[in-house]
Amino acid sequence: ITIDNGSFQWSAPSNIALVKYWGKKENQIPANPSISFTLNNCKTITKLAFVKRNNDSGFSFDLLFEGKPKEDFKPKIQKFFERIEVYCPFLKEFHFTIDTQNTFPHSSGIASSASGMAALAMNIMSLEKALNPSITEEYFYQKASFLARLGSGSACRSVKGSVVAWGNHVEIAGSSDLFGVEFPSTIHQDFKNYQDTILLVDKGEKQVSSTVGHDLMHNHPYANRRFEQAHENLSKIKTVLENGNLDEFIKIVESEALTLHAMMMTSMPYFILMKPNTLEIINKIWKFRNENNIPVCFTLDAGANVHVLYPENVKEKVLQFIKDELVGYCQNGQYICDEIGLGSQLI
Ligand code: PMV
Repeated sequence: ITIDNGSFQWSAPSNIALVKYWGKKENQIPANPSISFTLNNCKTITKLAFVKRNNDSGFSFDLLFEGKPKEDFKPKIQKFFERIEVYCPFLKEFHFTIDTQNTFPHSSGIASSASGMAALAMNIMSLEKALNPSITEEYFYQKASFLARLGSGSACRSVKGSVVAWGNHVEIAGSSDLFGVEFPSTIHQDFKNYQDTILLVDKGEKQVSSTVGHDLMHNHPYANRRFEQAHENLSKIKTVLENGNLDEFIKIVESEALTLHAMMMTSMPYFILMKPNTLEIINKIWKFRNENNIPVCFTLDAGANVHVLYPENVKEKVLQFIKDELVGYCQNGQYICDEIGLGSQLI
């Protein structure tokens, strides 16, 4: 088949890890397995337009962010293309225009690398499918996740499914270090439509990138124990996702968030990504949970923002609590209401 030009457009969501990925080996192989909820509203939408070209000396692409040329994102894309070239040898045969936008505010402190790399990987797989229509759906999504991983590790969990595991784990059937897999068992009722309200505590640029953070897990005094613990927590959370034990869910998820930040505080050099308001919010959540017996908990990414997780049936009460007591700790009072979603979509 020869294809001269055309375009695809995909959306891909962000995801929030319950058991965290922190530390990696060569080629974006995770040091430990992780599992995440796929989000629904926080997405990247990327259009990939392609034109056949003759000169195949290097990669050729233009990058638009929110409709305007964006030079500073180009090196990341260039590096991504270089990494995936062996798996997608057709890339040099085309000139691309990558037109991308996020549904969440730019520089909100919400990482767009997972959704962004996943959206681009989906488009590249659509092109591969156009060139080779015989590829199966299973191959399509598995390779999309594989490619997304090479862009940004956690991006491989933003391709398909509501709950996605990445990294070899004895109890997760089909799990792999190379791509994310949908959580294989049926998820308990109580996790359906699970809510994630993201409190934007600090929208500034992070002082330490996750690339540097992952690297600091080499020669980290607690690394090996931490990697074992992630395996243990993944076993525990698997049971919890099946049986709906929310008390146990809260313990695992909050411990994972604090452990992630403890790894940052105990690396050399050490660093802190939480802000005073992050801690204020955590304490308020604990007080609210104890006083009202409502199963709400927090988790953190590599940043100061707080993800507030809770079941749909307590949505009204938790949102009222957030408005009354937590909004004051958010930068410009900003927060984003999200919930568990399904994965990337062809538009
Ligand atoms: O995908 P990266 O390299 O940006 O790493 C992200 C790591 C955490 O967000 C902190 C945890 C995770 O598992 O998503």
